Amino acid sequence: MALAAAIVLSFVGATRQRAVRPIAVIAPTFSKEVVRIFQENCQTCHRPGDVGPFSLLTYADAAPHAAAIKFATQNRQMPPWKPVSGCGDFLGERRLTAEQIETIARWADAGAPEGDRAQLPSPIDFTSGWTLGDPDLTLANAEAYTPPATGDMYRCFTIPANQTAGRWVRAIDIHPGDRETVHHVIAFIDSTGESATLDEKEAGPGYQCFGGPGFSNPGTLGGWAPGYRALELPSDVAFHLPANARIVLQVHYHPHHGAPEPDTTEIAIYWSKQQPKQEMRILPLVNQTFTLPPNDSHYKVTSAFTVPFFVSAKLWLVAPHMHLLGRSMKVDMTLPDGGNVCLINIDDWDFNWQGMYRFRDPIPVPALTRLSLTAFYDNSASNWRNPNIPPKPVSWGEATTDEMCIAFLGITIDGEDLTKNLRADTSWLK
Ligand code: HEC
Repeated sequence: MALAAAIVLSFVGATRQRAVRPIAVIAPTFSKEVVRIFQENCQTCHRPGDVGPFSLLTYADAAPHAAAIKFATQNRQMPPWKPVSGCGDFLGERRLTAEQIETIARWADAGAPEGDRAQLPSPIDFTSGWTLGDPDLTLANAEAYTPPATGDMYRCFTIPANQTAGRWVRAIDIHPGDRETVHHVIAFIDSTGESATLDEKEAGPGYQCFGGPGFSNPGTLGGWAPGYRALELPSDVAFHLPANARIVLQVHYHPHHGAPEPDTTEIAIYWSKQQPKQEMRILPLVNQTFTLPPNDSHYKVTSAFTVPFFVSAKLWLVAPHMHLLGRSMKVDMTLPDGGNVCLINIDDWDFNWQGMYRFRDPIPVPALTRLSLTAFYDNSASNWRNPNIPPKPVSWGEATTDEMCIAFLGITIDGEDLTKNLRADTSWLK
């Protein structure tokens, strides 16, 4: 404090001598500095109708929250971003610079001044509702579904994509209808039509799909959980949607605030603009055979997979997935020459802030690379998220009271060039 005061004094002294205004004491304003930070880092979530609890679009929206904003940015709770820095370089990283955090703090400390409105940047246009702009196709269950007011419900809605030829998908986005109760959504692909039969057997919209979507060989287009943003691939890579396939949205409802609203969850699909060279495939790095002993607060679960000698690949996406007892997950790869590459490290797992993280540059995965995952779980009573009190042994399962240990890896296979009809052998993926 004394040092800071001395610096300010000597600065003021110096400026007096040079007869210029002491600009260092002018606080940042909303209109000039702060709104620009919000536009870039906060408004995707903090706007009407999105996941943030209040809007940060206008001065009137933001000013009452100045102290909380200072606090939440200084402790890096906001913007939410779970991967530990220094492991994995991801696109769309939500992390403020030290300078931005400082600017917000000085603004809040100065009483959150508005500043000169003439300095406001033009507002971001969120009107389409979809962050990637108007989709090529949107699909939703035909009839809204109201889940039971208590307990978990996994419900699958099967929707014909109405595409008579196979299509390439470069991006998807998902809008949950009722954000209060939709816990997560996975978009499966059904290429046999079995899901329509499952749907017919059950009254009401959709069918219960507790242990997965219930049909054979489901494909996937990714998913949504709080914190997910739209998933967009580069122009020469795409997910494949077979002809006449159905999209099956598995929606996990977990009501916690009384009566749930009728829900219509929508998926937006964006087609590739040209024939892509490579198909994006999902390799699950998974352990399904663990049992977490009750009252163990630091139980380790691992999984590993060695890429076959005849395959080299690129790694584009990683999506760690655990439930409520998961505390940390780290995914690494060991190269054939023994070198280690840290792929992602989440040291404070939060079920509510999952992501499908995309590497800034795809990571080469040579033949015989060993991919490995190490996760820790807290199955003690002191874990406030523990859904089982008293704690009980917990194994793999789809319910929130069960656990999972999985890292989905999005890969392309080297040498595949679909523009030349060169299709990769993927028998080893199954
Ligand atoms: C990815 C979505 C997302 C982004 C981006 C985001 N927020 Fe949030 N914010 C939320 C949600 C959701 C909550 C509600 C609490 C929670 O779930 O963690 C929240 C809560 C808050 C809170 C209240 C914290 C509390 O403890 O009650 C503040 C303050 C806040 N955000 C400020 C910001 C600021 C400032 C930014 C940008 C620098 C930002 N947020 C970026 C989603 C987001």
